[in-house]
Amino acid sequence: MSVDSIQEADQSAAAATELDADRLEAFAGQVASDIGTVFAGATVYIGHHAGLYAAMADGGALTAEELAERSGAHPRYVREWLGAQAAGGYIEYDRDRGAFWLPPEHAAVLADRTSPAYLAGASDGMAAIWAAAERVAADFTVGAGVPWDEHDARLFSGTEELFRPSYETFLTSEWIPSLEGVGEKLATGARVADVGCGHGVSTIVMASGFPSSSFHGYDGHDASIATARQRATDAGVSDRVRFEVALANELPGGDFDLVCFFDSLHDMGDPVGALVSAREALTSDGTVMLIEPFAGEGVEDNLTPVGRLYYSASTLVCTANGIAQGNRPVLGAQAGESALRDVLAQAGFTRVRRSAETPFNLVIEARP
Ligand SMILES: C[S@@+](CC[C@H](N)C(=O)[O-])C[C@H]1O[C@@H](n2cnc3c(N)ncnc32)[C@H](O)[C@@H]1O
Repeated sequence: MSVDSIQEADQSAAAATELDADRLEAFAGQVASDIGTVFAGATVYIGHHAGLYAAMADGGALTAEELAERSGAHPRYVREWLGAQAAGGYIEYDRDRGAFWLPPEHAAVLADRTSPAYLAGASDGMAAIWAAAERVAADFTVGAGVPWDEHDARLFSGTEELFRPSYETFLTSEWIPSLEGVGEKLATGARVADVGCGHGVSTIVMASGFPSSSFHGYDGHDASIATARQRATDAGVSDRVRFEVALANELPGGDFDLVCFFDSLHDMGDPVGALVSAREALTSDGTVMLIEPFAGEGVEDNLTPVGRLYYSASTLVCTANGIAQGNRPVLGAQAGESALRDVLAQAGFTRVRRSAETPFNLVIEARP
């Protein structure tokens, strides 16, 4: 190290000790608030699984004792839990009556599984992410990755519940109609592959909307495929839906009119290989539909609450899985449209466009 660079380091160390008190206070407050949010996440999980939000879904004002009686939960726990909910603004509190209630807009997010805004089911994903934190932290210096199937099983149900409301709301009404000629083909009878289908929620939504077509869901995770088969039976669509364990790079040939990747391409260790396999499985005028998390082009464009959610989940889950699969390279959940276009071009797709979007999703149409 030269004398000059030592002096420079000394100067910056001295400057670093001159802290801006206001900035320090504001940032410590932000981190304290974030820690509170993370702790409160566990109370959202409990509110969902112990049926407390469901017991408040009608919006009526309840004391802690009344909610305990209605939900069958221990009154002392309920009182403490209500305090946490009211402090976070999830539940309203009237001091004079000593009563708590869930406003209807909050009930849509926390208690109504049919609502497009429903998010309580995603609390399983929060739990699974924390369950992975120790292993992923250790892997930061090893770099072996963490395969999808080695996560806490709540990751699989949490992912299904995080994405299901969007698929049920937009998939057949907006995303498929945004693709050139695809809605018409599906209405008359087409073959569709859903790659990295997980619990199969997207496959089943499409099968319910297009009863004349056939749907093939593929995923590398055998337990997810078993659940997807059960979901298809429960939904009454197993006559036109098949689920099979298969890796994206090794899709069975299929003359598919449409090959979809729902929030899965960015998890894969070899996204170009997966897209080549998809292209080879298409008919000559077939289409690939990529659903990816909404993201801007660079880190600076993704410094938002949605970006924070996806970068965080991606660190522990998506990127960890892609590293385990060889990182050739894994895209991660905030890749952005240019990076998606780049892997599509490498895989031989020449006609690519953004066909739709929501605040959480990018929809990309790609044809060879
Ligand atoms: C974020 S989840 C999305 C699941 C589902 N598409 C959904 O939207 O609910 C990613 C899925 O991709 C699957 N996956 C990851 N890498 C894969 C690969 N190389 N081949 C096939 N499936 C893969 C995982 O097992 C997981 O089910």
